[in-house]
Amino acid sequence: MHQVRPQVARVPVSPVDPVARVLAPDAVGTTVQVRGWVLRSRSQGGLLFVVVRDRTGVAQVTVRRDRVGEAKFAEVEHVQIEGAIRVTGTVAVDPRAPGGHELRAESVEVIHAGEPFPIFKDQTEEFLLDQRHLAIRSQEYVAIFRVKAQLLAAFRRFLDAEEVLEMTPPILTGNPAEGGAEAFQFDYFGRPGYLSQTAQLYLEALIFPHERVYAITPSFRAEKSRTPRHLTEYTHLEVELAWTDLDGTLEFLERMFERVLHDLADRCPTELERLGRPPDELRAIRTPFRRRRYEDAIAQLQKEGFPVSWGSDLGTAEERGLTLPETQPIFVTHFPRELKAFYMKRSEADPRTVEAADLLAPEGYGEIVGASARETDVDLLIERLHAIGANVAEYEWYLDLRRHGSVPHAGFGVGIERVLRWVLRREHIRETTPFPRTPSRHTP
Ligand code: 4AD
Ligand code: MG
Repeated sequence: MHQVRPQVARVPVSPVDPVARVLAPDAVGTTVQVRGWVLRSRSQGGLLFVVVRDRTGVAQVTVRRDRVGEAKFAEVEHVQIEGAIRVTGTVAVDPRAPGGHELRAESVEVIHAGEPFPIFKDQTEEFLLDQRHLAIRSQEYVAIFRVKAQLLAAFRRFLDAEEVLEMTPPILTGNPAEGGAEAFQFDYFGRPGYLSQTAQLYLEALIFPHERVYAITPSFRAEKSRTPRHLTEYTHLEVELAWTDLDGTLEFLERMFERVLHDLADRCPTELERLGRPPDELRAIRTPFRRRRYEDAIAQLQKEGFPVSWGSDLGTAEERGLTLPETQPIFVTHFPRELKAFYMKRSEADPRTVEAADLLAPEGYGEIVGASARETDVDLLIERLHAIGANVAEYEWYLDLRRHGSVPHAGFGVGIERVLRWVLRREHIRETTPFPRTPSRHTP
């Protein structure tokens, strides 16, 4: 069946007023022109209530049949949810309207009437994920991704102030860095290529000329794990610092989190409040964060009945157990070497362990950062590569970094979506990224 599709009107792209202008205290009685998308609309006799949104906010527009005429009224009445309109009118006080003001339309232009919007209340999670390209227009997602943008901006501001330089490492790489099994492999013109799991090895190369570097890139993990905290593609903020050790890095990290979370509380209090995280809870985050050794964490978990012993990895359940009673992030340090990546520095005090720490978010959320001092000795690195069965030849370039001015250095990687999941108290990590990638989904 042939369907007549609504046309898009030719409209000037010249500036208009932001929708938020309608709500300004001094707007009452003034003429305002706005454009945006229809959030909802209802008609009552000769009166139409249309709630319009743009990037600045939401406001109610009223359209009177006796004002705009029969034909225009009918045209506006047929605009669908998420249709686009442009309105010129006068701002008036109306206590029933959102924000207490409404825009009384003198003229309305329908830019795109739209087809029936497929998203409404009480649809299944799967359906909404299939419709993600449209679902991201909801007020909730608007708030979430505004906070995410502010979070990234806050990290960048902090790092800029600390004179840490932003770098652009590659995503297409010739060697998996965090563990071969979890790397996405592809055919790179006849040779194996891997999607980056971490920018770390490249950032390490870049500390020799720049000393303090960072990158914000997508990282890829071919983990089949279907947990509420794993994505196959996530946003990775990584920092690498020359002339420091594990302690120095952890001090940098906690200072960064304190500053960034306070900054976030100041920049988007309304969104945070609305999403269930009162900004004062972020302002209450205070350094230093508690540091616990892995062996103490294991002992505590054993007391609580977890079936763990020295050498056990801390998974979702164990981290939940450790952090549920906490209100501040905590560090767990000095993991057994076998649990961690090949590049981590062997601990002198206990050579079974490495100079590494995970930062765990409180309230049960668990790991948000992985940090470590890096092994500086080329022979120890080669030994570790052999132990994990890696092809040492693929790492020659990395080993070169220990052959030319090797110095103590350390760094960490922050899972941005993990941080956001905690900050915004989301049940599932997919709610913190507009187009989530999981083992069962890479569309839309
Ligand atoms: O602990 P990871 O694997 O550490 C590294 O990749 C280091 N090379 C980073 C570095 O030192 N430059 O990953 C770092 C962080 C984790 O703490 C977690 O927050 C996040 O990345 N992460 C994930 N986030 C979402 N989905 C996944 N599948 C993740 N895997 C790790
Ligand atoms: Mg980790």
